[in-house]
This record gives sequence, C-alpha cells and structure tokens, in this order.
Amino acid sequence: MFPQGFLWGAASSSYQIEGAANEDGRGPSVWDTFCREPGKVVRGHHGDIACDHYHRMREDVALMKTLGMKAYRFSVAWPRIQPTGEGSANEKGLAFYERLVDALLEAGIEPWLTLFHWDMPQALQDKGGWLNPQSSKWFEDYTKLVVDRLSDRVTHWMTINEPQVFIGLGHGSGTHAPGLKLSFKEQLIAGHNVLLSHGRAVRAIRQHAKKPPKIGWAPVGSCSYPTSETPEAISAARDATFALHGKHLWSNTWWGDPVNFGHYPEDGVKSFGDDMCVVAPGDMEIIKQPLDFYGLNIYSGEPHGSGHAQGNAQTAFKWAVAPESLYWCPRFIHDRYKLPIVITENGMAGLDWPSADGKIHDPQRIDFTRSYLLQFARAAAEGFGAGYFHWSILDNFEWAEGYQMRFGMVHVDYATLKRTPKDSAYWYREVIATNGAHLSSTAVFNGEDQRQAEHASATPVRPMITVPKTRATANGVPT
Ligand code: FCB
Repeated sequence: MFPQGFLWGAASSSYQIEGAANEDGRGPSVWDTFCREPGKVVRGHHGDIACDHYHRMREDVALMKTLGMKAYRFSVAWPRIQPTGEGSANEKGLAFYERLVDALLEAGIEPWLTLFHWDMPQALQDKGGWLNPQSSKWFEDYTKLVVDRLSDRVTHWMTINEPQVFIGLGHGSGTHAPGLKLSFKEQLIAGHNVLLSHGRAVRAIRQHAKKPPKIGWAPVGSCSYPTSETPEAISAARDATFALHGKHLWSNTWWGDPVNFGHYPEDGVKSFGDDMCVVAPGDMEIIKQPLDFYGLNIYSGEPHGSGHAQGNAQTAFKWAVAPESLYWCPRFIHDRYKLPIVITENGMAGLDWPSADGKIHDPQRIDFTRSYLLQFARAAAEGFGAGYFHWSILDNFEWAEGYQMRFGMVHVDYATLKRTPKDSAYWYREVIATNGAHLSSTAVFNGEDQRQAEHASATPVRPMITVPKTRATANGVPT
C-alpha cells in the first residue's frame, strides 16, 4: 500500500533533546531564558541536559540504525552556530552537526535538517526578535553558514517549524518562549518577518547548496475532515480547514498562501482590518519561493460539523485521536498547493513507564500510529503522501509541559539517561522493514514485534547507557 521509496523516519528538535546548553560556545536561546522564569514551565524543567543527545549522539544514531530508520529529522540550534545570533560561525557548533550528519550517512539514514525549531538566540530577542525588521536578514546569514558547511552532504532542508505555534503561543498567549503577549497587530508583523525569513532561507539554500537541494518547511496542519465522502461534505470540510477563525494565527492558509501563492488569503486580510501588517513592495517575491515538498505536523483534527463524540479517545495531552486527519489534511493541502506531502511530525503524548519486566509497553502509541498510518497509506497510494516522520525518536523536553509528556518511541530515564526502546519502536521497525505491510497485522499488542526483533538480532537491541544522577538533577527533574 505504500509505494516503493516511501520515506520512513522519526523526528526531534535541538532544544528538546540536546542538552549541553552551556558547552562549546553555545549561546542562550529564548527557551533557556523562558525556562528560568518561575511558573512558565512545569516544575521548573529546562533543557540544560535534556536527553544529553549532544554527548550521546553516536549512541542515538546507532539506536536509530538498530530500529531501521531510513531518515531522521533534526534541527540545528541557531545559538550553537551563532551564539549571539550574528557574526561568524562558532566552529564547535558546526562541527557537532557535521559529526551528526556524517554518523547518519554512515548508518544509511538520510538527514532531514530543520533550520529553526524555536530556539532563537536570546541576544536577538533582546534586539526585538521577530519584530525587528532585520530578523529575516539575520536568518538568511545563519542559513548561509549552515548551508556552506553541510550542503555537500545534506539534501533535505526545512526552513521553519510551526510558525503558528511560536508566534501564536510565544508572542500571543505568552505560554511559550519568549513569553510575549503582543497585540494582534504586532503578531502579524512578527509573522510577516518569519515568512520573509523562510523565503530568504529558501533562496539562500538554492543559491549556495553544493548538492541540488530538496526544500520544504514544517507548519502545523489543522484539519476538519468530512464524516461522509459526499462532494458536499468534502467541500464543507475543506472550507473549514482553510477558513480563518477570528483573530489568531492557528491557520493553514495565513502561512501557506504567501509561501505558495505570493499573497495573504483575502478573508484574513479583510477580517484583520486595521491590524493587517504592511507588505512592502518585493516582500511577496521573497516569500514565494519554489518548494519541493510541503511538510505538515499533524497530531489531531476534528470531524466537520459534528465535533468529537463524547468520550472520544484522547492522548495524555488531551489531544483528540483523529486518524482521518492524516488523510484529509494532506489531501486538502496537496490539492491547494500541488506539492508532495511529507508528514514532518505525528505522534502522541503518553505517560509510559517501565513495567516490572523492565520493558516499556505502549500499546496505545502502537494503535495510534497504526491507525494514523493506515489513513496516510491512502494518501501515499493516491500519489501525494511521500514520507512520514514519527514524533519523536526519544522522550524529550516537551516545552511548557517539561518532561511530563512522553512522545518518544524510545523511553528516556531522566535520572540515568538510559534509553530503552518501547514496544512501539520494535513495532515501527517491522512497519519500516515491510514498507507498511505490517500495519495490517494485529499481532502488535502482545510483544510479538519485540520477540521477533530480539530473536533476529545477534547483538543486544537495548543499549544501556548510564551517567551519574547529579547531571539529571541539573536538568530540573527531581530525582
Ligand atoms: C509540535 C512541536 C514539537 C513537539 C510536538 C509534540 O508542536 O513542533 O516540537 O513539541 O508538537
């Protein structure tokens, strides 16, 4: 059901896993600052250590190889490359990502690089951050440094992750870094600068890449899906998916239309009225750059018209389980923008823990992923679903929720930093190995995948990695 060449991977982001916050010249990011503000992040958690991926990168890549990953989506931390966000590159920062890319390629895993996953250098925030008219120039300069160093080996690039979230939550509600509560008008200005940054980055990648690049981005895709497949129901769900709902930026089209069409959606411009930002001559030419794929982060969606039934399944985050969103949102977006769709994130928050047998049983993650992938199989069969990245490879720092939400297919014990693949990791390995055929098996809930995996492997499949407890205490996680 999945065509040959369908891409199977998993995703992460720099601040959520790397740790080593003060090492090798990394400067502080807005998230380092935000985490230190009392009451902003659950129990004062922060990313100083996180999963300590910075030091355990090789083990983590080895683990990905063991689990059969074909591709890995990660992000580069801007403050590692430019500690103050401007000026020449910090060699040690670039060298880390070079080692990561080399290790991935050696392991036969395709690197998919995101340039910005929310960790803006604090020094730039101090100069106004995304509100500063220079911000897209800063981003372009940073992009060039990364491209110059890595584009002989990296083919797949994503500019920006979820502008809806870091503008909406970071600059609107103030619940994410940098914790601002700007007026809607100012949010639109910041958003416009983000779009300019995207355009300038795409242009810079195309101009400077040493290998022909494939470029996309990773907005969040919100989705209304039809409850029957009549043309009327489909068209109503499509309209709802593309409609702007009041004055906030949780929208597909506000971000996607400028990038693909070179203009903001008319309904938004009209309803935002005086809040609308100035679009200078030439801006839209910068923002609209040819893309090779459209990334979508999709976790949930809503049946159009009816809403979710009482008692509908939900994850630990209380996000509704809505597998249909993984067919309909990609389809609507593909129909509109005509680009292949890559699911750049999909997964679920759980509260998994090691059982008495030492294993991590996460049947709900298997069921969740299975049902979503069966929907995306339809998108793949219809020719527009090109790849899938599970969020996430490791349990990690889930922003304002700290470490209490577990999204990984690999469990991380934050006291010891030991990695333990969950049942879902072994199950996903089978899905990848069979190019999706394993999705039709229901032998997924009885440990069958893991038994097979352990039997098939001569070497232990569960790396045991420990460090002194004190490091984890420094992470802000009470031990
Ligand atoms: C997305 C983010 C990602 C992760 C998941 C659960 O909004 O891009 O970093 O937090 O949600």
